[in-house]
Amino acid sequence: MQTQILGTPTIPDEMLSQAPELSVIVPTFNESENVRRVVASLDACLKGISWEVIFVDDDSPDGTAARVREISRHDPRVRCLQRIGRRGLSSACTEGMLASSAPYVAVMDGDGQHDETVLRRMLEILREGTADIVVGSRYVDGGGIGEWNASRAKMSRFATHLSRLVIKQDLSDPMSGFFALRLDVLNPAVRKLSNIGFKILVDLMASSPQPLRLKEVPYEFRNRTAGESKLDSQAMWDYLMLLLDKLVGHIVPVRFLAFALVGTIGVLLHFAVLTVLFRALALPFTISQCGASIVAMVSNFGLNNALTFRDRRLKGWRWIKGLALFVLVCGIGAVANVGIASYLFSRNSMWVLAALAGIVVGAVWNYAMSAMYTWGRQKK
Ligand code: GDD
Ligand code: MN
Repeated sequence: MQTQILGTPTIPDEMLSQAPELSVIVPTFNESENVRRVVASLDACLKGISWEVIFVDDDSPDGTAARVREISRHDPRVRCLQRIGRRGLSSACTEGMLASSAPYVAVMDGDGQHDETVLRRMLEILREGTADIVVGSRYVDGGGIGEWNASRAKMSRFATHLSRLVIKQDLSDPMSGFFALRLDVLNPAVRKLSNIGFKILVDLMASSPQPLRLKEVPYEFRNRTAGESKLDSQAMWDYLMLLLDKLVGHIVPVRFLAFALVGTIGVLLHFAVLTVLFRALALPFTISQCGASIVAMVSNFGLNNALTFRDRRLKGWRWIKGLALFVLVCGIGAVANVGIASYLFSRNSMWVLAALAGIVVGAVWNYAMSAMYTWGRQKK
């Protein structure tokens, strides 16, 4: 038997029935030792369901993508989406979901820590039509956080509290990266997603114009058996940036806020160094001011590289070149700052306002030029 869909080639029925009902999106970074196991466990627990798995790999140096393709050659249910020059768990999940055309999609970690046997229940709930999204939760009856140490458990609870700033629904485990949804609820939210950092679920819930109908299913967070966690101390920073973006991102870009915060730290540092050199060591003022400026500029560059432009971080030789460019840009910014402030002051503006106007113009210039050149798109 063959089915003719208007204007499309004739499709044999046995192929039609192969179209997946569920796409499982698995973000990966350096998980080459785990991907085979993920496929095997999905195969074992999704019998009778038409599914596919899309690994979204950020060009892992350990060759995860190549390993996935090896498996795909023998198993058409397995696909690989390899991103070059990009990093980020949230954006990987978004792009994976967008690469699917199944009615239902799930997002699951690629290291075996999420309990794949829960997927079947998630799919059943979605099929019933009583929820738009089903979240795997470690904080409802039957769920658990496994062998986490006290400080990570505390961190996770704190982050969960903070999420209430942007999510109005009652959600016991917004930090979960394990959930399933009807693909069509993604579309109204997808252009509003911040795609910053690790917390795609918070992002999705906060970006959906209509509140999503939600159900939770318990699962026990397992221990990692191979590979390493990528969650580092800076993930908390990313999370704060995500919350800030959801709160004020429509008014001012969060990157600019981060840049301004780093600049403020730089000013404090400048005064600290100046005090030591000029007051404590009694060096001449000009030399002290030079020393303080150099320390503040290097520190600003380092912090912006590690935080503000974390996703485009410069390393090695590029770090040195970046610093030189940053100093040049900020030097011009300082000239603009003083120029504007002096002009306004000469036009009888209040000195504080004149200084502030100079600072704002200088900061915007520094930010725009740094974003465009110092941390602009790099050619490989
Ligand atoms: N493509 C891509 N890009 N994948 C990434 C990246 C990235 O930059 N960073 C991490 N991943 C992948 C990992 O390879 C893994 O499959 C998954 O995302 C989760 O990363 P882990 O490094 O294992 O995170 P975790 O175990 O500490 O964090 C987990 O717990 C959180 C709950 O507290 C994850 O499940 C999160 O999704 C979850 O929110
Ligand atoms: Mn993990």
